[in-house]
Amino acid sequence: MCGITAYCGKGEALPFLMQGLSKLEYRGYDSAGITTLENSQLVTIKCKGRLENLENKLKSHQLHGHVGIGHTRWATHGIPSNLNSHPHTNQDETIALVHNGIIENYRELKDELIKKGYQFQSDTDSEVVVLLLDSLYEGDLLAATQKVLKQIKGSYALCILSTLEPDHIIVAKKDSPLIIGKTNDAYVAASDIPALLEYTKDVYFLNDYEMAVLSCDHIDFYNHDGQKIEKTSTTIPYDLEAAKKDGYDTFMLKEIHEQPHVIAETLRGRIHQQHIVLDELKDIDFSKFNKVYFVACGTAYHASLCGAHVLKKVAHLPVLSEVASEFRYNDPLIDEKTLAIFVSQSGETADTLAALRLAKEKKATTLAVANVLGSTISRDADYVLYTCAGPEIAVASTKAYTTQLVLLILLAYYIAQNLNQDVHDDVIKQLQLIPQYVDNILKDEPVFAQYAHMLKDMHDAYFIGRNLDYASVLEGALKLKEVSYVHADAYVAGELKHGPIALIEDGSVVIAVATQPHIAQKTISNIQETIARGARVILLTTHHEEVKNVQNTYYLPDVEPTLQAILVAIPLQLIAYYTACLKGCDVDKPRNLAKSVTVE
Ligand code: F6R
Repeated sequence: MCGITAYCGKGEALPFLMQGLSKLEYRGYDSAGITTLENSQLVTIKCKGRLENLENKLKSHQLHGHVGIGHTRWATHGIPSNLNSHPHTNQDETIALVHNGIIENYRELKDELIKKGYQFQSDTDSEVVVLLLDSLYEGDLLAATQKVLKQIKGSYALCILSTLEPDHIIVAKKDSPLIIGKTNDAYVAASDIPALLEYTKDVYFLNDYEMAVLSCDHIDFYNHDGQKIEKTSTTIPYDLEAAKKDGYDTFMLKEIHEQPHVIAETLRGRIHQQHIVLDELKDIDFSKFNKVYFVACGTAYHASLCGAHVLKKVAHLPVLSEVASEFRYNDPLIDEKTLAIFVSQSGETADTLAALRLAKEKKATTLAVANVLGSTISRDADYVLYTCAGPEIAVASTKAYTTQLVLLILLAYYIAQNLNQDVHDDVIKQLQLIPQYVDNILKDEPVFAQYAHMLKDMHDAYFIGRNLDYASVLEGALKLKEVSYVHADAYVAGELKHGPIALIEDGSVVIAVATQPHIAQKTISNIQETIARGARVILLTTHHEEVKNVQNTYYLPDVEPTLQAILVAIPLQLIAYYTACLKGCDVDKPRNLAKSVTVE
């Protein structure tokens, strides 16, 4: 779960490598480093901590060279330290590499290398790769890389550079992302698209087990067996502005405000004459499924819970939702009559990917709902639907979540249509109005900023909701804890009296969501139970009857209940955001987290 960059061209490598790392820092910020080839020697500058530390070091050691590699680290093996920082080099400093992933058999390989007399500088699994390369090098770096790849187990995106073959960089990938870009005078590579956009929109995607040799004016691709293969480039539709802050203080706030636009993009072309059109799925015969599994992690899991709830309600199909890290070890009931849906913003989450592979083994039909084009999950699934959220840079997911909700709701109604269930025109009309509703809610931002004052000094917060609102409060609590470090728990409102109410005392803050008409009144009764014990309440509701003793009530637009999770997400995101700001937290990069979790 690190970020890597590589440059091989006619210009200076450093500017590309550093701007790329700045776009990738969300993938980990435990250390950063660069190696360039300068006057036929490898020169490496690396240090513990954020990229800023590396930038400061580079002020006194300017690096030159037309070939180079860079890395930003999220520690897995070995503590964050200067020695454990990448790039790693062999002893005589002729080979350097950066690695994103985990080498699972590094212990065995390390022991063998030590027996051969190799000495290790770091505790990382990645250093094994560079020393193994050294031990297998016989005058051909590509051949040595192939041999190494046959010996290592686990996941990797690798960029390798050597003084022995100074005019190129070798890259390889398995289960970790790596995108190659072509500019006018260079070939470049990075862990994701925003790191390339300032230089190019023309990219190549590597499949697992493939390799490429980048030179300044050409590129060769190879398969697992070392045979040359052809690849064509794809032009990425993202623009660079989408990857910048656009005048907002933080990426998170920018991304919250992008939601009307990206929701409209996600809906674009998918509703035609009051019908939902998902061309990507037109070959699927939905009548063959007797159950649907939703599998995801974190925020994407919360979106899945909503999607599953709506699907069951409108298509009358049995649904199951499971966290990906549990799914594999829970003997999932999957066969060829199962539709298994994997939701992932990054499309690289290790647990979700492993779950997808298991579902494929068990012959389910697999569908990915992903945001990152060409990501591993989107390519491995039988079918893929893309959310159109654009690059999400803030570690805490906002716009990816609401676009997942939109797409999963579209999918639920699409399946209902296919199974000849009634889908009211009104729902479709309201779906098209969602961007406008979201825009209106965003205009009330100062209200939510004010609510944050109730939370900023709290140790704990309690979120309650029933039914679909329960999935929303799970996400509201996750958002609050991850960005503001206020401990937050979400409860099914009806469960409060079975235990959690013991925690409520004078001054506790309860955030209640009551948007489902048939059950809102019951949640409101549960609110009264907390008020009677001294709680202060923020209520987000569509229920217009007066609610006694609640001073902080925000009324959401009264849309079709199945769509409410999209709308209520906005106040919950803004409450979390402003609480974090009042506490002076680093909103875009919360401690201990990384954007793309490519380890189990
Ligand atoms: C929280 C958050 C995470 C991700 C989770 C899955 O704000 O972003 O909980 O939702 O790590 O990531 P993806 O969607 O990339 O699979």
